[in-house]
Amino acid sequence: MHHTFSHTTFCIRTFGCQMNKHDSERIAGMLEGLGALQVDTYDEADMVVFMTCCVREAADVRLLGQVASLKNLPLPKSSKLDHRIIAVGGCIGQRDGEKLVRELPHLDVVFGTHNLASLPRLIESAIEAGGHHVEVLDSAETFPTDLPSVREHSWAAWLPITIGCNNFCSYCIVPYVRGREKSRPLEDVIADARTYVAAGVKEITLLGQNVNSYGRDLYGEPRFADLLDEVDATGIARLRFATSHPKDLTDGVIERFGTLRSLMPALHLPVQSGSDRILEAMNRRYTRDHYLGLIEKLREACPGIALSSDIIVGFPGETEKDFEATYSLVEEVGYNQVFTFIYSKREGTPAASMVDDSPHEVIQERFDRLVDLVQEKAWQSNQVDAGKTIEVLVEGASKRDRSVLSGKSPKNQTVHARVPEGSSADELAGTFVSVKVEEARTWYLSGSVIEDEDAGRMLKSDAE
Ligand code: SAH
Ligand code: SF4
Ligand code: F3S
Repeated sequence: MHHTFSHTTFCIRTFGCQMNKHDSERIAGMLEGLGALQVDTYDEADMVVFMTCCVREAADVRLLGQVASLKNLPLPKSSKLDHRIIAVGGCIGQRDGEKLVRELPHLDVVFGTHNLASLPRLIESAIEAGGHHVEVLDSAETFPTDLPSVREHSWAAWLPITIGCNNFCSYCIVPYVRGREKSRPLEDVIADARTYVAAGVKEITLLGQNVNSYGRDLYGEPRFADLLDEVDATGIARLRFATSHPKDLTDGVIERFGTLRSLMPALHLPVQSGSDRILEAMNRRYTRDHYLGLIEKLREACPGIALSSDIIVGFPGETEKDFEATYSLVEEVGYNQVFTFIYSKREGTPAASMVDDSPHEVIQERFDRLVDLVQEKAWQSNQVDAGKTIEVLVEGASKRDRSVLSGKSPKNQTVHARVPEGSSADELAGTFVSVKVEEARTWYLSGSVIEDEDAGRMLKSDAE
C-alpha cells in the first residue's frame, strides 16, 4: 500500500462537531503514515476527503456544493494519478452510503463513522481499479483507539471517552449515524492522558455526545466523576469536556468544578428549550426547574463559572408561550455563549412526523429576538472580567493582525493582546501568558500581557 500513497497529497474538509474533527485528525495520521502529504487547498490535492455532518439540513446542502466545485478543477501538475480522488466520510457517508454515489457519480469513495480504518484500502482500490468503492458498517465492534492521529495543535488534545449516543432526543439524527453509546476503558483514557502530558500537551478536552453517562455500559454505573479525578491527577494543566446532558449531570461532577485543580471554570450544558412541554416532546427527560437547579448548584460549587448552551427555536408545535419560556430562561441564566439553531427536520427521527405548522417568518422573528438577547447577555457576563488579570493559553496570532496574539481564558473566552516586544505570536503559541483585561466585548476580551511571571498567576478563585 505504501507505494500507492508515496508522493501523493491529500486535503481534508471537516464539518460538524468535535467527533468529526477528531476523526479527521486520525485520517490525517493514517494517510501521513502511508507517505501522503497533507495540503490546505483543493488545487494542491490529489485526494480530497470530506468529513460530513447531517445534524441540520444546511450541512447536507453545503456538501453537494463543495463536491460539485471540484468537478472541473485540474489535478496538481506533479500528480501521478489520472483523476482527483474524492472521498466522503462522516455522518452523511454513514447515513446515505450507496445512495451518495448515485447522486454524485464522480465520487470515488464513501465510508462511514464506524470504519475510518478502511479508508486507505478504499482509496487504494479506487486508484488502482477505478470505479466507486462504498463501505459503511452498522456499528463499531470495539472502541476504535489504535489509529495514529495528527493533532491540529501540539499543545491541545481531544480525547474521546465515549462514542455514539443512547438518548434519542426526538429531533436528533446523531444516534442513527453514530450508533449506540460505547465507553472507552478508564485505563486506556488515562494512559492516553499521561502520554499527552508527557508530550507537553497543556489542555485535554474529553469528548462524547454525553460524557456524563461515561462508563455505564462498561461498569454498570456512570464513572465520569472518577475519570475527572484521574485525568486531573496526570498533571494536565487544563481539563475540559463536552458535551453534557443535563439529565445525567451528577452532584459529584458539579462538585469537581470547585475542587479539581485542572478542571476549567466553564461548562457547556445544552438546554434546548425552556418550556417543559417542548422539553417533553423533545424527549430530553428533565424539566426547566431541574435545569435551573443544576445551574444554581454549579454556581455554588464554582462561583463565576462560565455557562454555555444550545437552543433550538421552532421545534414542532412551539407556541409563543413556549418561546417566552426559553427567552426567560436565557435571561435568568445569563449565559456567556448560546448556540442558537432553527429546528431542521431530519427524516427518520420521531420529530419528523410531528405536526409542524408554524410559519417560517414567526420562527425567524423569534430566533432573531433570541439572538439579540444572547448577545446582550454574553456582553454582560464578560464585564465581570474587565480589569482582572487572567491566565491565557496562547493559540497564535489573531486572524486580522499578526502583532496581536489570540488565546483562551480559563472560562474559554477568546482573549486578544499585543505580542510583547522581542517575541512573536507563533513563538508563544502553546504557552501561558498573563493578560490584564482592559476591555470586555461580546465575543472576546482584550488587554495587555503582564511581563511579571508571578503577577497574574490564574488561581481558581479568580474566576469569581
Ligand atoms: N450531543 C450533544 C450535541 C448534539 S448536536 C448534545 O446533546 O448536546 C449539537 C446541537 O445541534 C444540539 O445540541 C441541538 O441544539 C442541535 N440540533 C440537533 N438536531 C437538530 C435539529 N434537527 N434541528 C436543529 N438543531 C438541532
Ligand atoms: Fe442528539 Fe440528544 Fe444524543 Fe445530543 S444527547 S447527540 S442532542 S440525541
Ligand atoms: Fe454532525 Fe455527526 Fe457531529 S451529524 S454534529 S458530525 S455526530
